[in-house]
Amino acid sequence: MFIYAANWKMKMSFNEAVAFCKDNYKGFLELSELKDKNIVIFPEFTQIKTIKDIFDKNNIFIGAQDCSVNDPGAFTGQVSVSSLKDLGCSYCIIEHSEMREYRQDSPEETAVKILRLDQENIIPVLCVGEYLQDFLSKKYRDAIKDQINRVFELISGYINGNLYVAYEPVFAIGTGNVPEIAHIEEVFDYIIEESKKFKLDGKIKLMYGGSVNEKNAKNLKNIRNLNGFLLGGVSLDFKNFKKIVEL
Ligand code: PGA
Repeated sequence: MFIYAANWKMKMSFNEAVAFCKDNYKGFLELSELKDKNIVIFPEFTQIKTIKDIFDKNNIFIGAQDCSVNDPGAFTGQVSVSSLKDLGCSYCIIEHSEMREYRQDSPEETAVKILRLDQENIIPVLCVGEYLQDFLSKKYRDAIKDQINRVFELISGYINGNLYVAYEPVFAIGTGNVPEIAHIEEVFDYIIEESKKFKLDGKIKLMYGGSVNEKNAKNLKNIRNLNGFLLGGVSLDFKNFKKIVEL
C-alpha cells in the first residue's frame, strides 16, 4: 500500500477546505478507487469532522496534524487522541518540522504520542529531517539519530501497529530543493538500521516529503523502500495532486 498524504497545513479556511472537497469530489472518488493506493487528507483540526462526513463511506482517509501528549484533562488549547479517534482519524502527523520550529517535543513526549495513537489504532506519522547546515556538513545522520534513537528505544516492545517515518529534509520543504535519491536512500537505510537495533524493522514504513511535485514524483517513486509521499504545496493543487497519485 502506497500512501499519498495531503498535508494541508493551515493553508485553507474552513469554507475554502469544504469547497475544495466538494469541487474535487469526483476526482477524489476516482483516486480512492485505485488499487494499492491510499489517500489521506490532513486538514486543520476544525475541518476533520466535516471532511470525514463529505467522504463518508468512500475510501478517503483522514488524519490530524498533531495531537496532545496528555489524557483528557485541564489542557487548554490541546486536542486529545480520544477526540481524534471519535472523529474517525486513521492517521496523525507528529513532530512536523513546522511544529518542531516552535515547540519541539522531547523524545519521551513523542514516544507517548506514538503509543497513545497506536492504542487507538491511529497510525502515527513521525516526521524527521535535518536542517541545511547538517546536510552540508554531512552531520545528517547525527541529526536524524537525535530524532529517532531514543523514541525507538521507548516504543520498542510496546507498539502494536505500524509507525510511518516521514523523512522531510527541512531545506526541501516548500522550496523546490529536493536532495538526490541516493541521499534519501542513505537516510532510509540508516532509519531501517536503527529500527533493527530496537526490533522495530517490521513495523516501520518510510515516506518522503519535501517539494514533491507532478514533475519529480515519477523519479522519486523509485526511492528504495518508499511507502508513501507527504505532500504539502502540491496537495492544494488538485489537478497536479491527482497526476501524482495516478502515476
Ligand atoms: P511541501 O511540504 O510538499 O510543500 O514541500 C511538505 C510538508 O511540509 O509536509
